[in-house]
Amino acid sequence: MGAPSTDTSNKYIGNPAAIALGKQFYFDKDFSGGEVYADMLLRPMTTPGRAPLGQPIKVACNTCHEVARGGSDHTSDPPGNTVSFGGGAYDVNGQQTINAAYSDLIYWNGRNDSLWSQIVAVAESHVSVNGSRMRVAWRIIDAYRAQYTAVFPDYPLPPELDSIAAQKALLLPDGTCALVNSACPAECQATNGPCLPRFPLEGRPGFVRPGQQPVCTWGSTETILQPYGDAWDCMQLADQLAIDRIYVNWTKAIAAYEYTLISNNSPFDRWAAAGFPAGMLGPSAERGARLFVGKAACKECHKGPVFIDKEFHDIGVPQLGTYVPRTTDCPVGDWCDCAGDDRFEPLNCLPIGARDGLRKLQASKFRRDSVWSDDEDCRRHFTLHTDPNYAKDNPAECDGRIQYYSMALTDEQRGAWKTPSLRDVALTGPYMHNGMYKTLREVVVHYNKGGKIDAMGGEVIGTIDSKIKVLNLTDQEIDDLVAFLESLTGQIDAAVIAEPVVPPDSAF
Ligand code: HEC
Ligand code: HEC
Repeated sequence: MGAPSTDTSNKYIGNPAAIALGKQFYFDKDFSGGEVYADMLLRPMTTPGRAPLGQPIKVACNTCHEVARGGSDHTSDPPGNTVSFGGGAYDVNGQQTINAAYSDLIYWNGRNDSLWSQIVAVAESHVSVNGSRMRVAWRIIDAYRAQYTAVFPDYPLPPELDSIAAQKALLLPDGTCALVNSACPAECQATNGPCLPRFPLEGRPGFVRPGQQPVCTWGSTETILQPYGDAWDCMQLADQLAIDRIYVNWTKAIAAYEYTLISNNSPFDRWAAAGFPAGMLGPSAERGARLFVGKAACKECHKGPVFIDKEFHDIGVPQLGTYVPRTTDCPVGDWCDCAGDDRFEPLNCLPIGARDGLRKLQASKFRRDSVWSDDEDCRRHFTLHTDPNYAKDNPAECDGRIQYYSMALTDEQRGAWKTPSLRDVALTGPYMHNGMYKTLREVVVHYNKGGKIDAMGGEVIGTIDSKIKVLNLTDQEIDDLVAFLESLTGQIDAAVIAEPVVPPDSAF
């Protein structure tokens, strides 16, 4: 396979020290927060979670993206569940980190344009890692100070971030600072309200409900989305920016490691390298390969060595499953809102897939053209990126991602999800964005019916792609396609996936 597409917004890709540090971060469970027992729509969960309510979930990237097993989640499998579990229940099934660097857009709905910006989101998501950027900074101070300083010499750590123990000594049980001679002491600040630590131990940007003022409002009741109240929102802007830099650097190191997660040398790769000689892959898989490129036309979308087309398609997979939202679960004005007009409002209509993802990408503050990017040209032209003519005239800018920044929202994007890679697919079940199929045979049967399956009460969204047709495959042909898919399981360099030593947990 050729090298993955470049990411000029992350200058640490290929840097051995950053990769080694990113690997430790990838396996470190002490960046995660507590169990919330709620799904993506903030509804209470009905299945057991990872820990009792409020207790640490102790997940790392590797928990849900096990590099030794296709980079996928083998831990979220209570009966009847089809999605991934972290602090709560996701609205979608897991994806792979192996070969993710080949993607143009990240996530099932494409709402991020780089691997590092994906991590900015996942680390603070209540259904996932449920951590906080303040925690990331303190964990680095406590456990990785020397390595961090070596990898990021141009970004010195703020001297006020000293030790977790010293920080804790300042605090009263309610998280405010103890007053000294009835004044807020120097290590604390009262700029935006009560006397608070300049750098709280936990804190992430607050969630602003419609109608709520986007200012520091100490004591917010939005407990799931604001587990640390407004600790972050009350910080001074310069301090927030210093922490954001540490946070982004942390994500870039992890992404540098992800760029090394490439699987190769599958039975299929060896067969291709030998020039497809008859008898080498086995008769069933070889027939399956012919069906894949011929009668079944899978390669219309699963193209090239990674089996992706960098597109989004509606192949008839319904919104189905306990935690997989339907549009009726998302009324106007709610956290998940499919009823408002998404041309004007920053809504959150999860069930519609790529249309929601593209809109979020267009509003993202952590894109390849943002202040956090290392790609100076892309960054410099930021204000031009909403102009479709500029994108048309400069298609290669921002590693080609510029096309998405001004792309129109269309009806075809409704119910469309990202074409997943098929490498290692035998290891990555359950399948589809909703996780509705446990086996590859069920997936092939889906295609055999032209995507027009019994939706079992689920909601079919949008219009099925015209490339999906009834295939009239025989039982043998279905088995052959499955045998072909099973031949795509590759190998990864043992040193890349060997578990690293991670420092002991910090005393938060
Ligand atoms: C609790 C399980 C969980 C944890 C922990 C988790 N992820 Fe994920 N990851 C998911 C799920 C589920 C998705 C799909 C989410 C979506 O599309 O909305 C995903 C998607 C991704 C993707 C997108 C792949 C693609 O092809 O677009 C990448 C990359 C990724 N995760 C990396 C990470 C990294 C790095 C970490 C650690 C910082 C991490 N994840 C932590 C569950 C998890
Ligand atoms: C029109 C484009 C298109 C065609 C043609 C197509 N696929 Fe897909 N494939 C997709 C998309 C998009 C998804 C994800 C859909 C979703 O989750 O809603 C997918 C999902 C899959 C998955 C699940 C992978 C995972 O990690 O969950 C497998 C396996 C798969 N396809 C195999 C095939 C096979 C075999 C064929 C031929 C019979 C085929 N595909 C034809 C676009 C296509």
